[in-house]
Formats: sequence, C-alpha cells, structure tokens
Amino acid sequence: MTNHTTTNSGAPVGSDQHSQSVGADGAIALTDHYLVEKLAQFNRERVPERVVHAKGGGAFGTFTTTNDVSMYTRAALFQPGVETELLTRFSSVAGELGSPDTWRDPRGFAIKFYTSEGNYDLVGNNTPVFFIKDGIKFPDFIRSQKRLPGSHLRDHNMQWDFWTLQPESAHQVTWLMGDRGLPSSWRHMDGFGSHTYQWINAEGERFWVKYHFRTAQGHDTLTQAQADQIAGEDADFHIRDLHEAIDAGNFPSWDLSVQVMPYADAAEYRFNPFDLTKVWPKSDYPLIPVGRMTLDRNPGNYFAEIEQATFAPSNFVPGIAASPDKMLQARIFSYADAHRYRVGTNHAELPVNRPHTETNSYSKDGAMRHGYRSPEQPVYAPNSFGGPHADAAAHGDDRGWQNDGELIRAAATLHPEDDDFVQARTLVNEVLDDAARDRLVSNIAGHVSKVTIPELRERVLLYWSNVDVVLGRRVAEALPPIAEPRTSLVGEPAPASR
Ligand code: HEM
Repeated sequence: MTNHTTTNSGAPVGSDQHSQSVGADGAIALTDHYLVEKLAQFNRERVPERVVHAKGGGAFGTFTTTNDVSMYTRAALFQPGVETELLTRFSSVAGELGSPDTWRDPRGFAIKFYTSEGNYDLVGNNTPVFFIKDGIKFPDFIRSQKRLPGSHLRDHNMQWDFWTLQPESAHQVTWLMGDRGLPSSWRHMDGFGSHTYQWINAEGERFWVKYHFRTAQGHDTLTQAQADQIAGEDADFHIRDLHEAIDAGNFPSWDLSVQVMPYADAAEYRFNPFDLTKVWPKSDYPLIPVGRMTLDRNPGNYFAEIEQATFAPSNFVPGIAASPDKMLQARIFSYADAHRYRVGTNHAELPVNRPHTETNSYSKDGAMRHGYRSPEQPVYAPNSFGGPHADAAAHGDDRGWQNDGELIRAAATLHPEDDDFVQARTLVNEVLDDAARDRLVSNIAGHVSKVTIPELRERVLLYWSNVDVVLGRRVAEALPPIAEPRTSLVGEPAPASR
C-alpha cells in the first residue's frame, strides 16, 4: 500500500507544503483545487456543540445481565446471561466544549445499548434527581446557568435567582453543593436513569422502575480547592483519567440495580413517583440487582465516535417504555430533534449510532443518506408487495398507561408527602455525616458569596432555612458581606446607602 497524500477524491497530491503561485512570490492560483479543498474542508470541521453537556468523553464496553429480572421486563438485553455491546458518554452540563472537567456540576451518564432488538439509550446523570420537574422550564433553567447576554460571563446572581424562584430545585442543589458535586473522576461516580421508566414483562404486566448504576471503583470526590486547582492545570482531567485507565487495561465497571414499583402502587405512593425532583427511599423499594457494565475500549476517533454520538431518551426497545414524568416526555421530543440539527437528518446511519441489527424503516433520502433498501421494496406502507409491516405482537401497546382528563396546564398530582424541601432535608440530616455537612456549608457559602444583589442573598438564605433551619443559620454565619452590592444582573452598583 502506498502512503501518498491524496485529495478527497483519491488522486495523488503534488505537495503538502506549497500552494501553486504565479512565480515564487506571485498570486495564488484558484486552479490550486487542493489548496481550496484543504481550506474549505477545514472551515467545516466542526458540528455545533451540544447545547448542554457539550464537554465529555466516553468509551465502548459491554453490559452483562447476571440476574433474572425477566418477571419485570421482556427486554432482550435484560434476560439472564445476555451480553450487549454499548457506548457510554460522560459529560458536564453547563460548560462549553473546552470547559474544565472539574467545575462543580452534575455529570451526564449516557449509555447506548446496541441490543438485539435495536438501540436502547439510557440518558441519565450521576444524580438520581433533577432541578426542575416540568420540561417547559428547561431552556430557562439552562440559560440561568450559562452566560449573561452582554458580558458573556457566567453569573451567580442569575443561577441563584432561578434556583430560589423554583424551590423544587432544593433537593438537586443540595446534592450539587455536597461532595458528589465534584467527582474525582467519571470512574468514581454512580449513574442513574433518574426518571421513572416503565418495564413490561412477557405477560404484558407493567412496573415502574428506577435505574441505579453503582461504581465498582468506589466513590471518590474532590474538595473545592482541589477541583479549582485541577481546573487550571488540566481542563481535560476526567477525559484523560478514563482514557488512560482503559489504555492501561484497568477497565472500570458499574453494577446495575433497579427499584421496581408495582404499577398500581403509583396512585397512592407517599411521593409522586413521576416527580424527577424526588427519590424513592430504598426502604420503600429496595434495590434489585440486574447486571454489570464494563468499559474496555477507547474510541478510535473522538469526533467520529463521541462528538457525533447521539443518545436519545426516545430510543426504547420492547419491554421498556416511558412514564408520566413530564420531564421525560419533553426529553422524548427534544433529543432526536437536537440530533437532526446538530449532526444531521441521517445521524442514525453513522457507524457509532446505527443499531447492530437490521433497520427496516420507511425513512428515506435526506442529506448524506447512503443506506438504502433494494429497489423492489416499496417506499410506502401499507403495500401489497411484501414491504415491512408493523408488528403489534413484537411491540404491542407497550408504551401506555391509564389516564383520562381534560387537556390542561397544571402541576402534577400531589401525593401526601410531596414538598419541595422534605427530601433535601433528609439528605442533609440523615444521609450526610458531620464532616460532609461542614463541607456543604462551606461549599454553599463559597458559591453564594458571589451573589452580589442583597435581596437575592436574603432569598437564598430563606431557601436554605427552608431546607433546614440550622443549615440556613450556618450558611448565613459563613457568608462574607457583599463587597460591591448590585441591583441588577447587568451589574449597576447599588446606591451607597444599601
Ligand atoms: C444532552 C435536552 C433534561 C441528561 C441534552 C441535549 C439536549 C437536552 C437538547 C443535547 C443532545 C445532543 O445534542 O446530542 C434536555 C431537556 C431536558 C433535559 C429538554 C428536560 C426536559 C435532562 C435530564 C438528564 C439529562 C433530566 C438526566 C437525568 C443529559 C445527558 C446529555 C444531555 C447525559 C448528554 C448526552 C450525550 O452524552 O450525548 N439534553 N435535557 N438531560 N442531557 Fe438533557
């Protein structure tokens, strides 16, 4: 095999070093199509970064089902002994493509299982809950965590303004400000499906489930000071850690368990089981082991296999379906739409995204389409010429749940113990120990010290007092006074009297 440079169309290239010019110092000729191709291709090397979770890394591996959960789901990948290839991508949420891996943030934990029934994507986080419970708030929430429109600076005033105006965020913010907000590596954190999903068994019986991936490497976190230092020294700390561990044959793994709620329990449960700001205490629904995920292969090419990877909560397989969680339903629309824009209409044809099974879809054409069915196959359904036809027995009516009612805009049904602060309070008082509580106070005070609008600080202190009175008082005591009080987001200093 020769090792000569060629153009994109395969013809040999005369020089990698010199443009064609009219004499040594003359103008460059437009006939130098290789120069034009090089520059034009370079201008098109990027696709838009993900609107959230832009910074990340990932690896390939397998999931092996080690336990029998067939009484809960008929999904082929979760039948005993089945091994399924997968891709997992970890990410931070608010930062851009080059942002430091060790900024305080939840971490994405997205898995694409290449199952024998098509791709199943579980697009979760390293936290079991989220900041909001209705997808209509998501764009506002994310903008409050990103940048001010004028200065393009991230801004603690808008972050805390949004959080305190949406007290349902308290559980997730408490979690974020604690130790788990700064994992030392992606290998040392857990992953969660976070939402409640539906599992359906071979008899058609339905269950509500929550996924928990527990790290086999053990938990490890950074202090704020360590994270700040690493952010300056190595912005790619977590990408490097995963890549080097796998390169060295040190393959990380996670054990999957699920909480299973019988279908009928949902109506009377003490918390709304479809509220993404709440967990189901394990004393109510214990963990049931399912299997193990191991990552053992680094991507061959970051752009092709990680940047262009598209994970969608709408990618279900038979035996797994959605729930009434309003966040999940918004996500079911949002991701596939983002993929058509970010990577392209036919993103699912790329090697990293395409299922390891045959696809028989009636989608056709569109930019960059290269796969096609035989010309004898009809392009419409139904047809009389042997084209693919939908199979209710294969998929059935898996995806539904009983519901009726008017089309309205309203909060989800209230259950007896629903309250924005109750589970945050339990986390502070019953899950954290004294040392972890001390670090929580210090992390919150450090973060809130950058809130420079006095009224907003008052609201932040009320928010923490609502979580726990002692915690609120301790945060107030730890907070330094505002050096330069402001009245608005754009940063006009307040009058001296305030
Ligand atoms: C990425 C939307 C809530 C986890 C994304 C992307 C969008 C999005 C548009 C970029 C997709 C891409 O370009 O490939 C939303 C909306 C939400 C929501 C509208 C609320 C309604 C959540 C929640 C979780 C989550 C609750 C976790 C439980 C992720 C992860 C990624 C992501 C892990 C990165 C996936 C990857 O690695 O490619 N989200 N999101 N999101 N989101 Fe969400």
